[in-house]
Amino acid sequence: MKLWGGRYEVETDNALHHLNRSILFDQRLWKVDLEGSIAWTRELRQAGYLSAEEVSALVEGLRAIMKEWEGGEFQVRESDEDIHSANERRLTELLGEVAGKLHTGRSRNDQVATDERLFLRTEVEQLQGEIRQLQAALIGQAEEGIDLILPGYTHLQQAQPIRWSHWLLQWVWMLERDRERISQAARRANLSPLGAGALAGHSLGADCESAASALGFEHIIPNSLDAVSDRDFILEILADAAILGTHLSRLAEDLILYSTREFGFVRLDPRFTTGSSIMPQKANPDALELARGKSGRLIGNLVTLLVTMKGLPSSYNKDLQEDKEPLLDTLDTLHALLPVLAALIGTLQPQGERMRAALDDALLATDLADYLVRRGLPFRQAHHAVGQAVAIAEKQGISLRELPLDYYQGLQENCDETLYELFDFERSVEGKSGGGGTGRAGVLAQLEAAKKLLE
Ligand code: ARG
Repeated sequence: MKLWGGRYEVETDNALHHLNRSILFDQRLWKVDLEGSIAWTRELRQAGYLSAEEVSALVEGLRAIMKEWEGGEFQVRESDEDIHSANERRLTELLGEVAGKLHTGRSRNDQVATDERLFLRTEVEQLQGEIRQLQAALIGQAEEGIDLILPGYTHLQQAQPIRWSHWLLQWVWMLERDRERISQAARRANLSPLGAGALAGHSLGADCESAASALGFEHIIPNSLDAVSDRDFILEILADAAILGTHLSRLAEDLILYSTREFGFVRLDPRFTTGSSIMPQKANPDALELARGKSGRLIGNLVTLLVTMKGLPSSYNKDLQEDKEPLLDTLDTLHALLPVLAALIGTLQPQGERMRAALDDALLATDLADYLVRRGLPFRQAHHAVGQAVAIAEKQGISLRELPLDYYQGLQENCDETLYELFDFERSVEGKSGGGGTGRAGVLAQLEAAKKLLE
């Protein structure tokens, strides 16, 4: 029998039953659904709708159902519409008539919103841990690789030399913002819709604050219309995950490039590459490509729910059932992806020699211009002069350090031999002590701060 069968003389069309049926995905809410119901029985007791015996019978029944789910024994029936009706159906089988008292004053509209908020709590905790693991792997590599210097790029053209650790730590800060955003979203989600009923609240005389606090919520949502239809908390998680996804995608993209034969800055542990079915030599960076690819669906899930929400009349509408699949998919995607990336980063083999070999003197052109500035040439002129020097060196097939001193003196007459000291990548990097720069002291300070995050 349907929860709402009373006014009907006919069976629901079978095709509609299947369209309407959300149990296949929302059954993952089984635990929080039962926890919410246990809290609700206490509320009903307090309001005088249940005797002490009825409460203990209901709580016992709900606990027994929890055991069935835990043990994988719960039988979902073809007729079960969603997790709420499945649990109630089972409770009725176990307890008979008294089970029918559980739903007093409650609607699936406030129930599902409560379930989702509870569900998100443990999911977010897991996510936070997974982000931390990835940060830890990046920090571990940054500690080991502090001496390695590689070309830094803008526009994917060699720009200025940087420390390998500096490259690694940038992702730690991005991930930290992701973590913060997710925990702020979780904090905002921690309010209780329970008792909002279908849309207008309930008339039991129950004070739902106690149910809210029994479930670990801060307090109830002050407006019942908002309570049953608000999905901002899911949108926020999806948005945060989409941003996180773009970070992971960009990290992956750099590493895909750096692991090519042409760059060769890193080697991937073979456990994190896969072969080709036709080309025997291939070891493809599939893990990284999937990280890049999955960002597409993370963004897609956000857009899916935004489009679903846009234009909905206020209060509950069945469209809201469409919130679960994007949410679950985003969470599952991140749970699958983050641990792989953490392990991949942890086992990354940086190739210091290849990094060094890729360093071209042109990376020091800005330092050269700065030198001329210190000798009195206005920066604009110095920039132009070094640009010409680069072009001339390129034409002659030599590097900047091979241009003779009299050439440089032609640019600014008080140049001397000390100019050549500047053709030292380590020195260049060390000069970048300001602005969150790549000098050793700055990178070590970053490392310190980053390690504190993990404590
Ligand atoms: N399965 C539904 C959902 O996920 C539960 C709420 C159903 N409410 C209703 N009025 N039919 O949104």
